[in-house]
Amino acid sequence: MRTTHALHVGDAASMDGLADGSVPLVVTSPPYPMIELWDDLFAARDPDVRAALSAGDGDAAFELMHAQLDAVWDEIERVLAPGGIACVNVGDATRSVGDEFQQFPNHARVVDAFRDRGLTPLPDVLWRKPTNSLAKFMGSGTLPPNAYVTLEHEYILLFRKGGTRSFPPGDDRRYESAFFWEERNEWFSDLWEVRGEGQELSGGEERRDRSAAFPVEIPLRLIRMFSVRGDRVLDPFAGTGTTMLAAMLAARDSVGYDLDGDLFTALDDRVADLPAASRRRIAERLASHRSAMADRDGGYEADRYDFRVVTKAERRIRLYVVADVRERSTDEGRGYVVDHEPVDGNDFTAAPEG
Ligand SMILES: C[S@@+](CC[C@H](N)C(=O)[O-])C[C@H]1O[C@@H](n2cnc3c(N)ncnc32)[C@H](O)[C@@H]1O
Repeated sequence: MRTTHALHVGDAASMDGLADGSVPLVVTSPPYPMIELWDDLFAARDPDVRAALSAGDGDAAFELMHAQLDAVWDEIERVLAPGGIACVNVGDATRSVGDEFQQFPNHARVVDAFRDRGLTPLPDVLWRKPTNSLAKFMGSGTLPPNAYVTLEHEYILLFRKGGTRSFPPGDDRRYESAFFWEERNEWFSDLWEVRGEGQELSGGEERRDRSAAFPVEIPLRLIRMFSVRGDRVLDPFAGTGTTMLAAMLAARDSVGYDLDGDLFTALDDRVADLPAASRRRIAERLASHRSAMADRDGGYEADRYDFRVVTKAERRIRLYVVADVRERSTDEGRGYVVDHEPVDGNDFTAAPEG
């Protein structure tokens, strides 16, 4: 099985290469408005942003920054297939603009934007990322009432275009893409504790990571939860290509856009390790499932493996390992071709064969 992955350097507000209704899944994390890391990016595209910040008008700056994201949400609404799902990782921002400290509720503004475009909000996930910093508490210390709660969570907002997607009865791609029952229990809970830095939520002194990449576990889960093998996954704010890397691991096609072409060079380094990383992840997934079943009675025999599964729907699960990754260039831009091999039978190990 082969998947393709296309990188486009350009503004995701005009994804002309993507046809209407052609994308079943979007997994993305935009630059978060009112996080200082992104002030220059937003201001370079609209000088009124800088003027509003300089004038101490945080509300105006917040709205102008979101207007830039809105142009991309318009495109998402256009390219999403009926029944397609958009997953948007976003955090709120806390910041003093002028003399006033406040929270800028990015997640609420993004929910409004998607609802305005006719997408249906689905139950979302709180991604909790505790920090160990002793300096994390702000305000009046141990004296009431002017201390502030520390934000240590982000959101993974989920939206669907129209009704649920349908498949032919017993569809192979869907049944082979099933996840294990114990994975369902973890992934479909509304609180995820996945380690990762991401975008700093406050305007504090911490070092800013220019890429603001999320850990691959986040898009990988979302892709497995909301798409089937061979689907195309779009990230309009691709950055270092974490969503695309996750799509490669999950045997889905992908397409990524970013204004900053330099960040894509990071992906070249990351794909070099992909076949080995894929083997490791599959070996871990199989081992973890065997251990989850060790104390359980009942269930069903899996069709392709020597373990049992809890539900009938899991019986046809089939994992795919990355066998090879090659770069390819076309008139439309750069990208990768990835070959995947099915993992059938029980003698799979993390070490490559031969
Ligand atoms: C938070 S980062 C994405 C990080 C990414 N999830 C990763 O793991 O590397 C947001 C990215 O959006 C890009 N960006 C901002 N506005 C954009 C636009 N209108 N079109 C395309 N890319 C944009 C920025 O250059 C930045 O790389």
